[in-house]
Amino acid sequence: MVKASAPGKCILFGEHAVVYGQPALACSINQRMTIEVEKEETFDKWRLDGRTFNPRKHPHIDYIRQQLPALDGQPLHIRVRGSIPKSSGLGSSAALSVALCGALQQLRGEDIDLMQASRLSHQAEAQAQAGRASPMDTATSSFGGFVVLSDTIEEDLDFIETRTMDVDGTSYQWHLHTFDADIPQGVALVVGNTGVHGSTSAMVKQVANLIEQHPERRVELETIGAIARRGIQAFREGNMEAVGQAMTENHIVLRSLGVSSPELEQLIRAAAPSSLGVKMTGAGGGGCMIALTTSPEQTVGDIEMAGGRAFITRFNEPGLGIEHIM
Ligand code: MEV
Repeated sequence: MVKASAPGKCILFGEHAVVYGQPALACSINQRMTIEVEKEETFDKWRLDGRTFNPRKHPHIDYIRQQLPALDGQPLHIRVRGSIPKSSGLGSSAALSVALCGALQQLRGEDIDLMQASRLSHQAEAQAQAGRASPMDTATSSFGGFVVLSDTIEEDLDFIETRTMDVDGTSYQWHLHTFDADIPQGVALVVGNTGVHGSTSAMVKQVANLIEQHPERRVELETIGAIARRGIQAFREGNMEAVGQAMTENHIVLRSLGVSSPELEQLIRAAAPSSLGVKMTGAGGGGCMIALTTSPEQTVGDIEMAGGRAFITRFNEPGLGIEHIM
């Protein structure tokens, strides 16, 4: 039996616009998905959490198991555990795919290959999102820490690789990087969950339709890119007031793109007075918001008073890792 885990993520800047090649910053969080894989002894079919595996219901898993065949094609039993709520914008599906890659690599007798896990999981996400997926979530879950996607190779960041993908007939390129960051003492990240499920593929499609029908609205994606660039710079300089301000500005443009929701707006309004900056995180339409704050307990309380579930999360958690081999 092998067991691997991978972290969820928060997007600090740039969701949606990053699908169209704009810069973005994400960080891993201390909520993780854990995958256990073992030989299926009882049935001659693959199983997932005790039930017969249905490839149509779990296209990510199906894609990855085909790319990384193990144990001469014998059926396997996959168990999924984790503390990342589903469809919440915290990258549960990316973390699941990445952790599964790690577990299958181990089962194949290979060393953990973060680059392969990141690439395969990105392909799996792209399939599930009608080809519209940036490598943001899957790279953050694979490598952990802070991940910057940029439209140029940034000399002063640690370059990982360049990824290219066709989105709606246009080829986009992302240069992936990581970097070390020292978060100033006393600054925390609070996550507020609306409890409403958001569908990434539906929200990404909504933005694709919007810019297809109104090409002039691409300028909003470019605005997000400009805000992200400024926010990333402020983050690296440790200027958390400027980071917070850029997060809030980023949210305003996301709201104008139509990917926020009344529930997200309610939590964001509640958290704003005690925070340096607030925004939705991930695809939206429900899911989570984040607040950068120097009074995390107060911010958690304010979000909960407004009807959300809130927690303080650590940023900069390790990426894909093996937990156990038997
Ligand atoms: C979802 O977590 C982030 C999006 O930008 C989609 C993507 O990057 O593939 C909305």
